[in-house]
Amino acid sequence: MKIKNIVTEIEVFDNAEELSINEQQLIEQARDAMHNAYAPYSQFKVGAALLLSNGVVVIGNNQENAAYPSGLCAERVAIYSASAQYPGVTISAIAITAFSTDRTIEKPIAPCGSCRQSILEYEMKQANNISMILCGSNGEVHRIKGIKQLLPLHFDQDALNGTKD
Ligand code: THU
Repeated sequence: MKIKNIVTEIEVFDNAEELSINEQQLIEQARDAMHNAYAPYSQFKVGAALLLSNGVVVIGNNQENAAYPSGLCAERVAIYSASAQYPGVTISAIAITAFSTDRTIEKPIAPCGSCRQSILEYEMKQANNISMILCGSNGEVHRIKGIKQLLPLHFDQDALNGTKD
């Protein structure tokens, strides 16, 4: 038996101004999208903005439903929309942020497990990392170089086909 340790690398910024102008703009687009979320049940509004390699930004926000599981997270609304509208165009980055009527979101929010799996699918498909920019209401921002940092033991097409190393 041996122990295998897995390290996740997160770049921590004190505030968004420490990032590039393009990244700051992407965060702003995620914030704009967040306000249009349909979240009457949780009051937890999430916004996502994807930057594509052709310069286009595709946004998403969470869409809830009275039948709770029928709703969808902001990240998946955005990434499925990008794939539907711009199939084959590489996704460079995703900014994610959230707002709650009940409390201030002090810390950056990270995508849920299902969203991580969905982002992984497109990262593997395009064979290029998707930079993840995670924000709270304001203040600290986390940047992560690709989804595998957040999903190290992942299940992908190679696992399905039995062709994984
Ligand atoms: N939500 C997202 O949109 N993204 C996440 O990564 C976590 C959770 C949404 C789903 C639901 O509408 C609300 O936040 C509360 O869970």
